[in-house]
This record gives sequence, C-alpha cells and structure tokens, in this order.
Amino acid sequence: MDKFVIRGGNPLLGTIKISGAKNSALPCMAAAILTEDEVILENIPQVQDIETERKLLVSMGAEVELGYGRAQHRTSIRCAVLSDPVAKYEIVKTMRASSLVLGPLIARTGMARVAMPGGCAIGGRPIDLHIKGLEAMGATITQEHGYLEARAERLKGAHIVFDKITVTGTEDLLMAAALAEGESLFENCAREPEVTDLVALLNAMGAQIEGAGTSTIRIKGVAKLHGARHRINPDRIEAGTFLIAGAITGGDLNIDCCNPEHLGALLGKLEQCGVKLDVGKENVRVHSGGKLQAADISTEEYPGFPTDMQAQFMTLLTQAEGTSVVTENIFENRFMHVGELNRMGANISVSGRTATIRGGAQLQSAAVMCSDLRASAALVLAALVADGESILDRVYHMDRGYEHMEEKLRGVGAQIRRMGDVFGKK
Ligand code: EPU
Repeated sequence: MDKFVIRGGNPLLGTIKISGAKNSALPCMAAAILTEDEVILENIPQVQDIETERKLLVSMGAEVELGYGRAQHRTSIRCAVLSDPVAKYEIVKTMRASSLVLGPLIARTGMARVAMPGGCAIGGRPIDLHIKGLEAMGATITQEHGYLEARAERLKGAHIVFDKITVTGTEDLLMAAALAEGESLFENCAREPEVTDLVALLNAMGAQIEGAGTSTIRIKGVAKLHGARHRINPDRIEAGTFLIAGAITGGDLNIDCCNPEHLGALLGKLEQCGVKLDVGKENVRVHSGGKLQAADISTEEYPGFPTDMQAQFMTLLTQAEGTSVVTENIFENRFMHVGELNRMGANISVSGRTATIRGGAQLQSAAVMCSDLRASAALVLAALVADGESILDRVYHMDRGYEHMEEKLRGVGAQIRRMGDVFGKK
C-alpha cells in the first residue's frame, strides 16, 4: 500500500492547475449508457474512481477509451450494445457512485441489476430516494442477494418531490427521466454545479431539461438520445483543498483553471479567517495575510459550505487564533480525521455532529492513517505545516479523487514523496 512522506514547514509558492471534477465526470460517464452513439468527454481527471467507472461500463459491454495528457484527458464511450446490464458487487463495493448507472440502465435497456452499495467510512449512504423515484416512474424494483433488480417496459414521466436533497439521486433520476415517456417535474433537487454539468451534457445529447441549478427541474422525455462532446467542469473541491494549502502554509499560490463562481461559500469563510484572496475569472490567488482567525462552519447543500471541504477546513482552523465550531449536517460520520489530527497535536473535541477546535496548536509530525478521500486531504494539509516528517498510510483513498496530488504539491515547493510497499507483496 502506498504511503506519503511529507516534511512540513515550506510555504507553497507558484501555480497549481485544477483538474476536471470527479463528481461531474462520474455521472457524465454514466449518461453515455443512454445512447448507442459515441459520447466524448474532455477534462476527465486521472483518478481511481474514473478507472473504476470505466471497468464498470466495460463489464456491461461498452467500449471505453481513456487518454490522458496530450489527449486532453479525453474519454470516448460507446454503449452500442449493453449485453450485461449488471453492476457487480466487486466493482460497486469500491465506489458508491456506481448506483448512478441504475437510472440510465433501466431507461435504455428496460432492466438493471445493481449491487446495493453498503455503508462507507462517512456514513450509511442509502439509495432509497433513487428507488422511490424510479418506482414513481413505473419501474418494478426487487431486492435479492444484495442486488437490486429493476424492470420497466418504458419509464413514464413523474412528479417527484425529493424528501431530502441528494446529489447523485437527482442525477440518477434526471438520466432516467430524459428517456421516459412524457414530462417529469422534480422538486427539492440538488443545485450542485455537478448536476448542472450533467444536464449540459444531456441537453447536448438531445434531452429537453430546464431548470438545472435551481431546486425545480422540468424534463420532457424524448424517445432517443444521440452522441455528443462535452468538457467537464473544473473540480471545485480540488481547488478548495489547494486554496487551503496556500493559506495554511503562509504561501502565495495561484489556483488556476478553476471556476471561482463555484467556490462562493468557501471563499467567504477563508476571508473571514483573514486569508487574502484575489479572485479572477478562472483563477484565485491566495496569499498569506498574517495570522489566521477562528470561524464557525456548518455544512449544507450547495450553495452552502460543502461537506467535501469540511475536513480540510478543520485542519486550517487548528492553525487559527481562537475557538471554532464545525457542524456536519450532511453525513452522520464525517469526523474520522479528528482522531488523527489530535494525534498530530490538534485540540479538537467532538460531540455528535459538532466539533470544537481550539486553534493555535503547533502540529507535530506523526504516522497517521487515511480513512476516506477528504479526510486524507485534511491529513496532507496538516503534514504540510507540522514540524518534521509525517507518514500517511492508505493513500489509496486519496488516489480515488485527487489527480497527481503529490506532483502538484511538489511543483509549488512542498516536500512530499510517495512510497510504495518497501518489501513488496509476500
Ligand atoms: N440520502 C438518503 N437517501 C438517498 C440518497 C441520499 O437518505 O437515497 C442522504 C445521504 O445519506 C446523505 C444525504 O442524503 O445524508 C446527501 O447525500 P447525497 O445523495 O447528496 O450524496 P451522494 O450523492 O451519495 C455526492 C458526492 C459526495 C458528496 C455528496 C454531498 C458524488 C459521486 N459524490 O454523494 O462526494 O459528499 O454528494 O455533497 O457526487 C466525495 O467526493 O468525497 C464525496 C463523498
């Protein structure tokens, strides 16, 4: 298992280019199921979750080509024949977003067998709202041996009011409704930029969807969708993570090729902490503004403060003067990083969904364990300011969603190395 070795203390200086958003790329790849034609996606990040989704599509009979670097991080997907519309447990267990293929598979082939995703490090991850919505569109869904089996002659448009705001739930049902017979009206939808990105692709494929980015979305179902070419949005969570890297190390970083409009809640909180920001059209410069001050955050659905930035922001707060309170409202168990941060010398206590951070601690290097994708990022940030050399174990969590994290950080002056298994496998 790979590890990171990080020596803290260097201010980060220079420019980091942001990659395409993993959480946009995943639903956009699933959308290719909806047509027999080729779908070409650009700005696909080179991360493990994308490789997992490629495997998933290929296992169903799709042709998928992935090209990186000079190939513009382009993938072309052709689902001419879907001979095996099954999302197998071996693949789904490593990536909960696999449930995104449920809606498109039923819409395109009239049936789907998808392994139920279990819980994961951050909480239960149920998909009851996906199921309820598909049933409202006329699908019959049964559960057997850990798999959901869904069937429908042709889905019918429906009026769906989501009981709770769900990002992939909104995306899954949008894809199903795009090919359903008649009109659908969805209320209480997720407004995340990733939903808007998916809708831009679906409309380029011939779908008729209005209202993405608001909580009410109308879909006029069409009989067929065609191929399209689409460029994936920049990753707002990667951009946010590197903004914090600049702020916490007292550096001067230019975060380039991002969309500052998607970063509103985070930028506001960084300024409240005393971080200096120059916001451009496609970049944000972050530079040291002296001492950091405490701030409270409370995670919410977009455009609120993102749960995917909570762990990284907490690391920043360990370096701020005063006491901050972090409330996690989206997932029930997203404080796995706290124990490891405390082992590095932070002073954080957790009670239910709330963490209290007494800031101003000098973090110390330690051997720590990554528990999920964003928790890993929080530990990298802590190691960048700790005195001495830290070792981060299980960085495969990081590889699921950050493209070449260590190379990007090394390029701006961080001392970070990846180590493989020193003695190899038995
Ligand atoms: N929920 C239900 N029933 C459902 C679906 C969701 O109760 O059928 C609950 C969840 O348990 C959670 C809340 O609704 O409490 C919100 O979950 P949501 O469905 O919005 O999460 P998701 O779609 O599974 C996506 C991102 C996550 C991100 C969340 C919240 C992708 C592939 N994943 O997950 O990203 O944290 O939205 O913004 O888009 C990450 O990138 O590290 C990550 C975990």
